[in-house]
Parts: sequence; structure tokens; C-alpha cells
Amino acid sequence: MSQTNADWAARARAVMPGGVSHELRYRAPYPAYFTRAQGAEKWDADGKRYIDFKLGAASQLLGHAHPEIVEAVARQMGQMPYTGDCHPLEVEWAEWLCRLFPSAERVRFTGSGTEATMLALRLGRAHSGRDKVLRIDGHFHGWHDMLLKGAKPGANTAPSLGVPQVVSDLTVVAPPSVEAIAQILADDPQIGTVFVEASGANYGSVPLPEGFLEAIRALTADTGHVLIFDEVITGLRWSPGGRQARDNVVPDLTTLAKVVTGGLPGGAVVGRSDIMELLSPAQTRDGLSPPVSHKGTFNAAPMVAAGAVKAMEILSTGGVQAHADAMAARLRDGFNATFKRHGVTALAYGDSSTCHLFFGGTSIDGLDAAAIRRTPPALVNALRDGLLERGVDFMSFTSCVTGLPHTPALIDEAVDLFDDAISALIRDGVLT
Ligand SMILES: Cc1ncc(COP(=O)(O)O)c(C=O)c1O
Repeated sequence: MSQTNADWAARARAVMPGGVSHELRYRAPYPAYFTRAQGAEKWDADGKRYIDFKLGAASQLLGHAHPEIVEAVARQMGQMPYTGDCHPLEVEWAEWLCRLFPSAERVRFTGSGTEATMLALRLGRAHSGRDKVLRIDGHFHGWHDMLLKGAKPGANTAPSLGVPQVVSDLTVVAPPSVEAIAQILADDPQIGTVFVEASGANYGSVPLPEGFLEAIRALTADTGHVLIFDEVITGLRWSPGGRQARDNVVPDLTTLAKVVTGGLPGGAVVGRSDIMELLSPAQTRDGLSPPVSHKGTFNAAPMVAAGAVKAMEILSTGGVQAHADAMAARLRDGFNATFKRHGVTALAYGDSSTCHLFFGGTSIDGLDAAAIRRTPPALVNALRDGLLERGVDFMSFTSCVTGLPHTPALIDEAVDLFDDAISALIRDGVLT
């Protein structure tokens, strides 16, 4: 007999903490366990269908099981999945990144986005000769110890037990204000590296102030700090060359993952050759010990590289991004029309192919990350439950991403379901 979500949850809880592999997948009483996904739709173990605005935590810009990616990966699996050697596909993939990303003079592949930010920070420290890193309040750079402090906006601590205080002490959290950052850098000579999530906090739910990237580039060029853009979300999504190509601002180093790996597991650091060459064993006489050490069993695994190279070919023209952006705009317009129709004071907003919801007013201008994210938990949870019940899955509680397989018909269907969910929240007194 086939197993239901409830069956899988019972089995999962007996062997996995909370029954999940990622804390954000946790739900009470239990999450859905998914068995099939195609395009912008997916089906759970109960056979229920969802319109998907999570798209693999924003990694599947091309949609689930895109036939050309499936074909490329399947072919590579049969030919040479992984040997732990150098191979032609990693060279082609790196060449693509150097063509697409203005900051990319050299590329080093990693096992994930988190690993990419770890490596970029090590490079920043090595190049600057200084241990401290400045990062912006609320920006997310993966789950490792070194950039965790500040991930939760408004809390100047690491949101986890197990992060040594001495490690957190090396991370300085700043507001997204270039004047404030200039002062902090001037006051603390131990800071050598500056990290920025290129979309603003959490794929742009807290957009950066106008002109921020240009100004922080000018500032760090002047002071000599290593400037790192985290383009794990924006890379190949905001444009084929990420936000840096779209807005014409070139950091020293860039961290990449998700879309850049063709939606397959992995990541990359790209950047200035003088910094990246610190990774080259050719720098040393014995050819064994580069100035900056970096290993990783599955870096640029051929089965991943095959899908990634195919994705680069498809995504390099910008056509897919233009379609995804248009679908996100349609979704935002639909949600805002719903708010208006029901007299709800709320806003759907977002850059590129994202849509975020704000329930504290009709503008987010001038608000900090903590204020933008301060939606009452009862409302956040009720909305999420209402949408899942109706077969709509958001990326996180109040954010969505769109991709190639979202059609106008699917967007309109999702807007109708959203409207129904909002009506129910008003009826139940959760939303006023
Ligand atoms: C901006 C940003 N940086 C880094 C990461 C970490 O990437 P990964 O989940 O592949 O470790 C994420 C993940 O969502 C992210 O959004």
C-alpha cells in the first residue's frame, strides 16, 4: 500500500531530527513529503498537486526536470558520473562563468553556496591579512559559523548554539548604510573583508538602498577592503551575469550556487585573478601547498557540471530571466489587486523574479530588516497553511520566486487561490 504524508512523517521523525533535513522544511503537525515534480508543479505523497513558487529554494529557474538538463545529466551519469579528476566539463563551465560575470577572472567550484561563502571569506582574509569581516544586518550567507552572526535581523548574535564566541567576535554586523559602514571600517583596522547579499536581505525581501552597491564599491576600492557580493540567489537570475552585470558594479569576489549549478548540488567562487590565484598550487615550489588551501570531494563533479553547462547555454541569452520577471510582476499585480479588493493594508513587491509580502503597510521605504519581517507569526502561519491547503507553495512564509515554467494561466490560478486564502483569513479574523 502506498504511504501517505502522515506515514512518511512518522517514519521520518524516528530517524531524522524533527523529521526533516533542513530546519525550514519543518512544519507542525508534519510537512508534506514530495514524490514528483515537473515544470512549476509538484505532487506530495498524498497525491496532492501544488503550484510551486519555491522552485528548489530558488535553484530551479528552468523548472523541475527540464528535459535538456535531464538529458545532459543522464548522459553524463552513464558516461562518467564522478572520478575525482580534472575533466573538460569543469573547464567549459568555468569559461561560461568568466564570460557571464564581470567579476570573474578565475573560478573555483565548491560543494554548496555555504562552502562558497566560507572559501570567499578565507580568500578575503588571506588577501587582506586581516581576520575580521563586516556583513550587513539580516543578510544570509549560509549556515557556517563565520557569517552566522547577523543572519537574524536586529539580533547582534549568532542565531544558534554551538557557534564559538571567539568566532562571532570576528564578525561585525552593520546596517545597510554606506556612511555607517565607512565609519566602522575607519574605526576597526582589523576588518579586511566586506560581505553583501547582492539582492538585499533574503532574496530582496529587504531591498538595498538605492545606489548602495555602487557606493560600497567606491568605498572599498578606496580603502582596499576585499568586497564580496553573495550572488547565490541573484547569479543568473537577476540577469545572465547576476546583479553585477545588470547594475554594472564589479566586486572583488562573488559567491554563486543554485541557478549557477543548473539547479544541481554545488557552488562557486569567482573573482579577481590576483586573489583567486592564492588557490593555485603552482604558486609554490613543491606544487602541493597553495597559499590558500581548499579541497572538496564533489567540487565540479561531472554529473553536476554536465547539467550546469547545459543550463548556462539556455540561460545565457536572458530570455528565460525576462519571462520569469514578467511572471513575477503578474503575480505581484494579482496579489496587490487582491489586497485592494479586500481592503487589506499590505504590499506585494520584489525585484527580478521574486515576490514578497509585507503586511505592515503599503510601502517598505525607510524600514529596516527587522521591521519589514515583523509580520505577526499567527498571520504568517495561517497564510502559509491556507495556501498549502489550496495547493500553493511559497519559497518561504511570505516570499515567492518564479521561473521558466510559470505560465500566465498558472499565475492567474495561483492568484485566485491566494484571493480565496485571504478571504478565509479575513472571515476567521486573522487578517483585518
Ligand atoms: C544569499 C545566499 N547565500 C548563501 C546561501 C547558502 O547556500 P547553500 O544553501 O547552497 O549552502 C544561500 C541559501 O539560500 C543564500 O540564499
